Amino acid sequence: MSVKIAESITISGIPLKNRLIRSATHDGLADENGAPTEKLIRRYAYLAENQVGLIITGYAGVSANGMSPYPAMLKIHNDENLTQFCALTQAVHAHGTPVVLQLAHCGRQTSSKGIGAQKVAPTAKRHLFYPDKAKALSEKEIWQIVDDFVQAAARAEKCGFDGVQLHAGHGYLLHDFLSPYGNKRQDRWGGTVENRCRILIEIIKGIHAETKLPVWIKLSAEDNRKNGMRIGDAVEIVKILEANGLDAVEVSCGTVEDGMNTMRSAQMPMDAVFAYREPCASFPKHFKAFALKCAQAVNPLLKQPAPLENFNVENAAKIKAAVSIPVVVVGGIHKTADMEQILASGKADAVSMCRPFICEPNLARKLLDGSQTEAKCLMCNFCGLVIEKGETKCLYGKVKKS
Ligand SMILES: Cc1cc2nc3c(=O)[nH]c(=O)nc-3n(C[C@H](O)[C@H](O)[C@H](O)COP(=O)(O)O)c2cc1C
Ligand code: SF4
Repeated sequence: MSVKIAESITISGIPLKNRLIRSATHDGLADENGAPTEKLIRRYAYLAENQVGLIITGYAGVSANGMSPYPAMLKIHNDENLTQFCALTQAVHAHGTPVVLQLAHCGRQTSSKGIGAQKVAPTAKRHLFYPDKAKALSEKEIWQIVDDFVQAAARAEKCGFDGVQLHAGHGYLLHDFLSPYGNKRQDRWGGTVENRCRILIEIIKGIHAETKLPVWIKLSAEDNRKNGMRIGDAVEIVKILEANGLDAVEVSCGTVEDGMNTMRSAQMPMDAVFAYREPCASFPKHFKAFALKCAQAVNPLLKQPAPLENFNVENAAKIKAAVSIPVVVVGGIHKTADMEQILASGKADAVSMCRPFICEPNLARKLLDGSQTEAKCLMCNFCGLVIEKGETKCLYGKVKKS
């Protein structure tokens, strides 16, 4: 068998020792100012020590009005946290591993009350899970956000990051600009696909003018929203962004409004919903027990997205066929044999994983030395709900395999 996953590769000038990437994962381990804590730095150093090819950090907020309502998000919207970010890059680089900072603005996908600021979006619109209405951005405010991303990238460069990844997927602000579902603007920031790309083009150009860092994006190539993102649009978008200096793309899918599409699971993890997700977590004890029983009874009837494994590979292949920049694919990738097939068939240049590394932070080493050929993660998604309450953890073992 070929050993494609162990082959080195250079992506946008960043040398990787192998093709296994830790996809961006909110670890819930920033301090109250959004700085990486010692524990987060140790977590990243452990991933690096265990041979992951490249780490993409959890999303880091670039603007005060674009923070997550979840606790302990990384923040790089000012100069306050640079010492801790420098310590993070040094700890990862000590193992010869590159690290890319993911930059994000949450847009509609937050709560104004939670962040203490009026939330904003391309178009005034509610969110299924964060129902307070976002305010539509003015032209001046859009330019402020462009500058926020550029300044955040400049800080990332100062701290020694090897690149930045713009979070343009999963329903966050940049996704909302790209998708006709979130973007109903009739000015030069909306309408045609070129106009919907404009904010990303300005950010990419701005970062290239201010820094030497490569710029990646994470893109939801499909989002299941009415008139939302479809793969044909996604291909056009990546072509336009490549022509404007984009250096690499990681292909994902879905939005938070889309439920479990981004991180698919055979069933909705009802136990975790009632343990960690508001308002269910705060239901009175007896009502909660009753409501959980009802939810568990209907759970098997709820339709979940399919397939559960390798679910963005065909979209990645379509994007790869249309552009020359490197393409990374994430989503339900678990088995060495599948990874080898994805790489050997040229559908992507590298594979990335999130939940498998939460479950087994030393997974890369085990896949590379062949002692394991499949991730142990059950795709139960308990970790995806714990983030509402605190540190991201794997609850493997507390959950039965269905
Ligand atoms: C706990 C948790 C935190 C996540 N945090 C981020 C994040 O900060 N940025 C991001 O782009 N995606 C985030 N994701 C999505 C993953 O990066 C990934 O796209 C998704 O889980 C599918 O990959 P997987 O099947 O390998 O888990 C998160 C997912 C989970 C479960
Ligand atoms: S809780 Fe653990 S086993 Fe379940 S999806 Fe998350 S990482 Fe995988």
